[in-house]
Amino acid sequence: MRTVYVNGAYVPENEAKVSVFDRGFLFGDGIYEVASVLGGKLIDFPAHMARLHRSAGELGMRFTVSDDDLLAIHRELVSRNNVDEGVVYLQMTRGAIDREFTFDTEKLTPTLVLFTQSRALIDTEVAKNGMKIVSIPDLRWGRCDIKTVQLLYSSLGKMEAKARGADDAWLVRDGVVTEGTSNNAFIVTSEGAIITRPLSHSILPGITRAALMAYCAANGTTIEEREFTIEEARGAAEAFITSASVFVGPVISIDGVEISGGKPGPVTLGLRKTYLEESLKRAI
Ligand code: PDD
Repeated sequence: MRTVYVNGAYVPENEAKVSVFDRGFLFGDGIYEVASVLGGKLIDFPAHMARLHRSAGELGMRFTVSDDDLLAIHRELVSRNNVDEGVVYLQMTRGAIDREFTFDTEKLTPTLVLFTQSRALIDTEVAKNGMKIVSIPDLRWGRCDIKTVQLLYSSLGKMEAKARGADDAWLVRDGVVTEGTSNNAFIVTSEGAIITRPLSHSILPGITRAALMAYCAANGTTIEEREFTIEEARGAAEAFITSASVFVGPVISIDGVEISGGKPGPVTLGLRKTYLEESLKRAI
């Protein structure tokens, strides 16, 4: 049985408790991070914690735990649960108080929950064979740059993708692709240009996206930040996604249109290799 962390205590997963009045449960008033683990070490960890601080700041949520403690909790859970490959999920909510829409943040103690999920991340079906994408309208709220636990639309989007025989969905707003349900979207043009849309309130500033861009910049590969339509994506030479749990994931079809001959493309596979090599060097 897994050991999980709840508000200062390490407990067996079936004994972990959070209040029914928790604002994360009642209002989706919570933020989260997912950091991957490779060889028992955390990938892109400082950047994930920096984004957690940013999310808390944007929502005016108190931050009552130190970065050193957060690292120690992550490491303790990885160790207690013998995670070699997998993820650590962290959720922080504004806290628990009787149900009112308004709140006094200062009177609330944030709820902090972490747990691990062991699973293969490198040798996966998606890495080998790629993923099929369908497009759906982006009907999420206007602050998708904050990593909140309000994931219902993303969850339903993935369900719709599965129902349509695909693996995931890309979201389209005002005629352009914003991002995937839980990942950032990229295309490679027939001229070899690698493109992803610029950051804004419409997308999550992905940690994997930022790390990949930095590694590419360092080795002289340009990633261009500009918007692209779903039609352009369907006609692209290659397409891929980035996220903490998939890293760089090849896309092999969009809305039933085959991309890159229906198999992972060479540029995508090269970027996956670069990301894994560089992020492993920095794993802690
Ligand atoms: N999802 N966009 C959205 C909407 C996301 O939910 C995520 C991450 C990303 C990629 O961000 P990063 O590279 O920092 O993981 C982009 C996580 C993995 C999840 O919800 O499980």
